[in-house]
Amino acid sequence: MRVIRVAIAGFGGVGRATANLLLARRDRYRQVHDADVRLVAVCGSRAGLADPSGLETARLDRLEPGLSGPEFIEASGADILIEAGPSNFRTGGPGLAYLRSALSAGRDSIVISKGALVHSGPELRALARSTGAMLKLSGAAAAALPTIDLVEHSLKGCRVLEIEGILNATTNYLLDAMMNRNLGFEEALSRAQAGGFAEADPRSDTEGWDTASKLILIANFGLDADLTMDDLSVEGIQSVAAHDIETWRKQGLVPKLVGSLIRTNGAMRAAVGVRTYPLSDLLAHVSGKNKAIRITTDTMGETIAIGSGTEPLATAAAALKDLEHILTTRAARATLAE
Ligand code: HSE
Repeated sequence: MRVIRVAIAGFGGVGRATANLLLARRDRYRQVHDADVRLVAVCGSRAGLADPSGLETARLDRLEPGLSGPEFIEASGADILIEAGPSNFRTGGPGLAYLRSALSAGRDSIVISKGALVHSGPELRALARSTGAMLKLSGAAAAALPTIDLVEHSLKGCRVLEIEGILNATTNYLLDAMMNRNLGFEEALSRAQAGGFAEADPRSDTEGWDTASKLILIANFGLDADLTMDDLSVEGIQSVAAHDIETWRKQGLVPKLVGSLIRTNGAMRAAVGVRTYPLSDLLAHVSGKNKAIRITTDTMGETIAIGSGTEPLATAAAALKDLEHILTTRAARATLAE
């Protein structure tokens, strides 16, 4: 049985959920992938823990100060990095150093936080290609809602002409609550924060930056584009007022915060803003914390996926879906090499 060593950098709620789910699935990895998957290191910004024979759940509450950083992960002997640190698309956040280090060493990497990928996506993509490392980002690109997977697998070979995505759960919840439960923006927002799915800084959700980040990841990693935040026009829902809600209700329209990509004459145009849909459109029925994507291709017409899933478990599961794809590819490569 092959031993696969995994390290997790970034140990907040999502990093911990990923560690726990990975450990709970070790029997599955043995049975389905013939792999002994070991969690050999975890770290937050100031503390961590490593053990080459594999960490168990009970030890994950006793991180040791000083064990952190790309060198710590390097020294752990991990084959695969899962990056789940705080996300900052303006600086790349701590994830950028972890990913540069892992990908330059040819270490397969699974990314959950969006910051580094939005900030330096094309660089990291090129780095992965140059060393042959696999770079997967389901957890960052809308998590439980499949996005890049749809393009790479289900729509393989098709030319994507247009994408429309309700990619942010918080704003979908807020607009839904304002339309259907007569809540004001502030009250709906406090409920979303109490539910734990809004970003710590709600402006990332409400001003459209989270949607824009996911859209950039889908474009750059799913469609091989090179978009940056400067290429997008980004508008959020912060200025949606009670009279807008009233007008949409009267017109039978449903507002959604949508990230859109359209290919015209070879160029890709991307934007984030509120769109309204009649009830005859499926996107009008994506309610509450659900997300959705509509992909229009040249040969398969329209494909729509709707996803839900509770944070942080759904995000952890999306990252571990990537892990299983990596295990499958590694096994195939090992067979070819024999
Ligand atoms: N706050 C995000 C959302 C989850 O509401 O969809 C993390 O991207």
